[in-house]
Amino acid sequence: MSAPADERIESVLQETRMFPPPADFAAQANISSEEQYQAMCQKAKDDPAGFWGEMAENLDWFKTWDTVLEGDMPETKWFSGGQINASYNCLDRHLKTWRKNKAAIIWEGEPGDTRTLTYQELHREVCKFANVLKKLGVETGDRVTLYMPMIPELAIAMLACARIGATHSIIFGGFSADAIADRNNDAQSKVVITADGGWRRGKEIALKQNVDTSLEKSSSVEKVVVVNRVGCDVEMVPDRDYWWHELMDDVSADCPATPLDSEHPLFILYTSGSTGKPKGVMHSTGGYMLGAMLTTNWVFDLKEEDTYWCTADIGWITGHSYIVYGPLANGTTTLMYEGAPNWPDEGRFWEIVEKYQVNIFYTAPTAIRAFIKWGDEFPNRYDLSSLRLLGTVGEPINPEAWMWYHKVIGREKCPIVDTWWQTETGGIMLSPLPGITSTTPGSCTRPLPGVVPDIVNETGESQPENSGGLLVMTQPWPHMLRTLYGDHDRFIETYFSKIDGCYFAGDGARRDDNGYYWVMGRVDDVLNVSGHRLSTMEIESALVSHPEVAEAAVVGFPHDLKGEGICCFVTLKSGNGSDELLKELTQHVRGQIGAIATPDQIRFAAAVPKTRSGKIMRRLLRDIAAGRESAGDTTTLEDRSVLEKLMAKEDSE
Ligand code: WTA
Repeated sequence: MSAPADERIESVLQETRMFPPPADFAAQANISSEEQYQAMCQKAKDDPAGFWGEMAENLDWFKTWDTVLEGDMPETKWFSGGQINASYNCLDRHLKTWRKNKAAIIWEGEPGDTRTLTYQELHREVCKFANVLKKLGVETGDRVTLYMPMIPELAIAMLACARIGATHSIIFGGFSADAIADRNNDAQSKVVITADGGWRRGKEIALKQNVDTSLEKSSSVEKVVVVNRVGCDVEMVPDRDYWWHELMDDVSADCPATPLDSEHPLFILYTSGSTGKPKGVMHSTGGYMLGAMLTTNWVFDLKEEDTYWCTADIGWITGHSYIVYGPLANGTTTLMYEGAPNWPDEGRFWEIVEKYQVNIFYTAPTAIRAFIKWGDEFPNRYDLSSLRLLGTVGEPINPEAWMWYHKVIGREKCPIVDTWWQTETGGIMLSPLPGITSTTPGSCTRPLPGVVPDIVNETGESQPENSGGLLVMTQPWPHMLRTLYGDHDRFIETYFSKIDGCYFAGDGARRDDNGYYWVMGRVDDVLNVSGHRLSTMEIESALVSHPEVAEAAVVGFPHDLKGEGICCFVTLKSGNGSDELLKELTQHVRGQIGAIATPDQIRFAAAVPKTRSGKIMRRLLRDIAAGRESAGDTTTLEDRSVLEKLMAKEDSE
């Protein structure tokens, strides 16, 4: 950890504005009274097994479980003895109802092409692709990598994997070939599903090409399936690469869902940690599906007739839980958009809201800040009156951005659910329930039923109201991660060794006198750039792998749009930095990690400030990167002149 947690947990917000749920919303809400919420929370506390067991009856099981919960954190098993299939719960069970011909996915491509798949049609495609996977030799328990644009085939491929019990590992399309190779090697993926490319701001983003490069370094992959999305030239390697549409041409649409143990790994999703390589967060089938289904229903107050739109990319956990598994398990119509919010202009999202009469809209603070910057004229051009509920996720939302969202997008009529959760938690943990919770800008308010958080100090003591501390979970929940793939020790070390008996989230937070939670951000060396987690260490390793770099220290700094920007202090082996080298290093980081890790600033430094024991003093670097006078203690600094030089440089810039 770079700085004692309490240094980074200061309660900055004094927010008193309160917004009770609008009466008409409250009257129709799925959870509609405080008593109902309290009773659910109480039951979950007194009898967790009874509570979650009752909830799990909302899923379809091939075989009912013997035990709801076995063991305690970190080694928990949920619904042992039970058999279930995620794809069945998202598809087959709706086919027996009127939802058979309801739109499951409404998709819009960036160029404006559209496609709607009913539950019946989606089921058919999924069954066919599951048979394709089988034909390619994929078996229950194998890992399959998905590196795809936001097209229906991505959801189809996920559900097809789930159908036969292959564990999917989705890699966001902004990651580089090296990042794909690392993840394929770690997961030992057998098959990669990709596309020739995808559309982003009118440009073709090459994907297959990155996969080709990655395969030079990952030998476990035997087959590659390629969706023809943009029509660009790609090289197809015989006996390795196949076109999606050709494979789909001659398979049967009959593929019953495989009954799987509740604990069967549904997916692995890599996320950045403060040390080491990315962590393969592994989720189960039964517990994860229960969390995804319930939280979508509670937080987004789903109704049959809703058109629900989560703007995340499926390459992140938000897309897994709240575009695909959660909405489909509820029989919802989920909207999926391929491209950028500012293509062909900054009104695209609002055009989509009007066109499809979107009712529920879930996005990220970084997007909201961009909307504000682009100006009210874009949303004002469209009829947004279909919207009834708004949500945010990914980072703390600035109260002023919250107010803008409330006024300009929500027309002061839509509740806003600020949802706190993580890749590791699988689903939303802290969030208003829109029918009962009064909201306040910047707070994710209260835990959902069955979630038992606390704020503790470094020694695990519960903290009083309004004092900052570490956010932990004191009770297990069904949709928590089960392990880090291939590294169970790291799983225990990262989440369960810091605070005895608790899950440690890595965030600083406080609880106010209302019992509301205010999340202040990470307390470790993880950056939150546009709501995406990046580790300072990964970026440092990328920089140091360049032949001219001797040492690198990466810190975040406040950034208007991204929340946090990436600032790199680089010490060279010899010579001074040049503009050319700066560009080269920027490209180098993009090549190693991907475009999402593009440095915002690279500063050449003769040395970085270190403690006498040799630890980089990141706190000082953070102050310098933010252009702040460093108020912190510098008595442990090994060589004061280093700091003075860096500060002097800052002044001359
Ligand atoms: C941050 C995204 C404040 C937090 C679902 C967490 C938030 C990390 C919020 C997880 C929120 C997410 N308010 N901070 N509503 N939501 N965060 O794994 O620091 O990509 O630990 O999951 O994002 O990021 P991840």
